[in-house]
Amino acid sequence: MFELGFFSRYTVNFASLFEVIPEWRTLGDTIAVRFSRDSHGEYDRWQAAVDDLPEITVDSVGLTDTVTIAGAITNEQAVTLETALGELHPWRKGPFELFGVKIDSEWRSDWKWRRVTPHLDPLADRRVLDVGCGNGYFGWRMLEANAALVVGVDPTLVFCMQHQAINRYLENERNWVIPIPFEQLPMAGFDTVFSMGVVYHRREPDKHVQRLFSFTRPGGQLVLESLIVENTESLIPVDRYARMGNVRIVPSIQALTGWVRGAGYVDVEVVDMTSTTVDEQRSTPWMRFDSLREALHPVDPVRTTEGLPAPVRAIVVGRKPK
Ligand SMILES: C[S@@+](CC[C@H](N)C(=O)[O-])C[C@H]1O[C@@H](n2cnc3c(N)ncnc32)[C@H](O)[C@@H]1O
Repeated sequence: MFELGFFSRYTVNFASLFEVIPEWRTLGDTIAVRFSRDSHGEYDRWQAAVDDLPEITVDSVGLTDTVTIAGAITNEQAVTLETALGELHPWRKGPFELFGVKIDSEWRSDWKWRRVTPHLDPLADRRVLDVGCGNGYFGWRMLEANAALVVGVDPTLVFCMQHQAINRYLENERNWVIPIPFEQLPMAGFDTVFSMGVVYHRREPDKHVQRLFSFTRPGGQLVLESLIVENTESLIPVDRYARMGNVRIVPSIQALTGWVRGAGYVDVEVVDMTSTTVDEQRSTPWMRFDSLREALHPVDPVRTTEGLPAPVRAIVVGRKPK
């Protein structure tokens, strides 16, 4: 038995989530193990960073393009805050601003959100699942749209720790980030199910979409976002795609929508197709690794360094029949 947040002044308490979704009570021990040094060698450093966040009174919160938390802060607190947040590098999703510290993340996630929102059933009062939620950025935007509850699931622990850092100030019990893979989540029903940027990493992408279907309540909406190729044939990278070693398939639109229809969704529509630019995904002081620019061909930027078509992303929506 592991103790949740054993080394921490600020513990994450999933008890109130389990009250809302009792089917998940069995996850308590798994989550506790994930939030421990036994699951990641960097855990203690990340938890220490969360513990080091200074006590600051929150005066206002804006769940807008830049998720913003405001309040009066001393110069000394600003340095401590920036240092602690920096320990949680890399910040891939955002932007955020905490008490004047601007987290310029690798992705302008607000741009993706702007492409998605016009096609959503209104989120007000809905229960939402966000598979591969990263640090929970989109969850805050879903709360802006008055979702009743957002549960994100993501196995990458540092992103879950980023969520804890943000939520250390927001103390919110409606936007959760659970540190496990989707495949380990016990079944529960949601009004809207998002899977953005995940399906092309899966060895069995059709099974991923079938699983999304089983988490969608009858009449509920699916939002599936993926890399695609503008071709009738899907691309199966022999090695890397845009320098990523974990892309199993870049589907054609036909394949992507085929998985969605095949799972049982109806009213399936491709609502957006956008090429990813080096303005939307780039290295910043908060994500110092290489980014899209380094993954594109130096003289032919419509190709990747591997000579494959440069990243294009599509958003597909569908509905589970009533
Ligand atoms: C490309 S990012 C997309 C993040 C965000 N959804 C977005 O659209 O910007 C993929 C995310 O999926 C997460 N992920 C990978 N495998 C997963 C799994 N089996 N279940 C849930 N999330 C997973 C990764 O940790 C990562 O945060």
